[in-house]
Amino acid sequence: MALVDSLRKRLGDYETLAAVDLGSGTGANFRYLAPRLGGRQRWQLVDDDPRVLATTTGFTRAWAEELGAQFTETADGFTVSGESFQCRAEFIRANLAADPANLVWPESALVTCSALLDLVSESWLRGVAARSRDSKATLLFALTYDGRIQLNPEDAGDAHVRTLVNRHQRSDKGFGPALGPAAPDAAATILSEFGYRVVRERSDWRLGDDEQQLHAMLLDGWFEAALDMDDGDDGALSRWRQRRRAALAASGSGILVGHEDLLAYVRGR
Ligand SMILES: C[S@@+](CC[C@H](N)C(=O)[O-])C[C@H]1O[C@@H](n2cnc3c(N)ncnc32)[C@H](O)[C@@H]1O
Repeated sequence: MALVDSLRKRLGDYETLAAVDLGSGTGANFRYLAPRLGGRQRWQLVDDDPRVLATTTGFTRAWAEELGAQFTETADGFTVSGESFQCRAEFIRANLAADPANLVWPESALVTCSALLDLVSESWLRGVAARSRDSKATLLFALTYDGRIQLNPEDAGDAHVRTLVNRHQRSDKGFGPALGPAAPDAAATILSEFGYRVVRERSDWRLGDDEQQLHAMLLDGWFEAALDMDDGDDGALSRWRQRRRAALAASGSGILVGHEDLLAYVRGR
């Protein structure tokens, strides 16, 4: 992610970086960023799902072993120290959908999330933007879905499925009406209104047919979402799925899912 280089420059020299990962899931965003940012870091990993939080320790321990980093489980999280970084991470089980004005993080923190922004509503995002500006936070919102789904080889039913999937993306995911594919543009507009300088970069997700299982899971997920949105379906969606599965089995099938990363920082910082 090229934006990480820009992020590092914006953060400058720090004694200890305070970082909060909203909707941290299994900790993938932490594991991506921690060694790339380097130095001393203190993380809050926030999620409301105890099952995914519980898996973070195992994934991060295995990752640390592979890196040759020192991993220690603590009462509320873990510490991990590699050649160029030393992190303490604390798990916080919390419902982020509650009033964003109540979200607490230190002054001048890095506030980050990945694959979360398309789930949230405009009003929630405004609340986070206000809270971020007031606390002089630097923001990195990674992997926000932008509505593009391209399947290869193309099928006559793809456009209809994409329309239905994108409609489904706008339904409430717990934060109010979800921004879905509108999230990257909305985030850029809102953060600019709050005085942030915004840098955007595409970070598309490409899947080849060497990842058959994941590929099939995605197709099934889109099929279910489309079915939910299409009251009058006469079997066209099932036929679409059959054709897509056949293309996958025949090899040469590929998927691109459009995503964007966004860096936002307070001007003059
Ligand atoms: C699509 S996953 C992304 C996980 C992780 N950031 C990643 O990139 O792998 C969204 C995450 O947000 C969490 N989440 C969704 N709604 C939430 C809420 N209201 N409060 C806290 N976490 C929430 C989910 O539990 C899930 O772990």
